[in-house]
Amino acid sequence: MVAKVKEEGKKIAARKKTEKSSKHKTHQNSYKVERVKTGIFGLDKLTQGGFVKGSSVLVSGETGTGKTIFCLQYLWEGLKNDESGVYITLEESAEEIKKDALVFGWDFEKYEKEGKFKIIEKNVFEDTNLEFFEIDELKAKRVVIDSVSLLSLFIEDKSSMRNKMRELIKSLKERGVTVLLTSEIVGEGFSRLGVEEFLADGIIVLKFTPIGTEAGRSLFIRKMRRTNHFEDMHPIEIGKKGLRILSV
Ligand SMILES: Nc1ncnc2c1ncn2[C@@H]1O[C@H](COP(=O)(O)OP(=O)(O)OP(=O)(O)O)[C@@H](O)[C@H]1O
Ligand SMILES: [Mg+2]
Repeated sequence: MVAKVKEEGKKIAARKKTEKSSKHKTHQNSYKVERVKTGIFGLDKLTQGGFVKGSSVLVSGETGTGKTIFCLQYLWEGLKNDESGVYITLEESAEEIKKDALVFGWDFEKYEKEGKFKIIEKNVFEDTNLEFFEIDELKAKRVVIDSVSLLSLFIEDKSSMRNKMRELIKSLKERGVTVLLTSEIVGEGFSRLGVEEFLADGIIVLKFTPIGTEAGRSLFIRKMRRTNHFEDMHPIEIGKKGLRILSV
């Protein structure tokens, strides 16, 4: 009898040990949000350390609010830290994009020659296919698509656009890429068809409202899944080194 009780006691102790170690394991495996530095001065402080790695972020704003500069600065940050990048431009030419960047001293050509960066001019007038082998070829960690609004002009209806965007975001996520998609705001909402904002994990809104002699540029984070973030409007400036949040 005593032997039986001892045996039972041993079994309970062994089970508790297993439970304890599996609890520990669960804790070790708990989901940790990895971050990608945004490169925008001050923005990482507003987003608990940067964009969520592998997420998609919509950079929305009216014309001239700094969407392209924002995206170039993001890619430049990656290149400085040995993360290759691809810039897919649907509107401006590759040459224009490079010139836009050079104004801030970002010489992308250097990285292009090293095979770490590529600008792809995508003509959506010809076709709306958005598969780019260059992303795999360069093992890109950062991708920009500027702008998805143009795409929405060529895709007949909202459901096709939603499907297209879903497929695009899914394929980039499978590759572990953190992607920025720019979107024009015309009137209400954050995009032309009102589709992109629901699919993207994050939305950053850029604004430009001149007040008297002040430039009146600002930024706010409309959403950012899987992270806490500041919710208020922040004044920004486009200086010699690019975009900067003035309130942090
Ligand atoms: N060196 C600079 N210093 C300060 N402001 C600048 C500088 N270069 C550009 N800007 C400002 O940034 C604006 C252009 O930024 P950007 O091209 O990123 O805007 P965008 O939102 O992409 O515009 P679009 O919708 O037309 O593509 C200019 O209109 C100007 O106001
Ligand atoms: Mg632009």
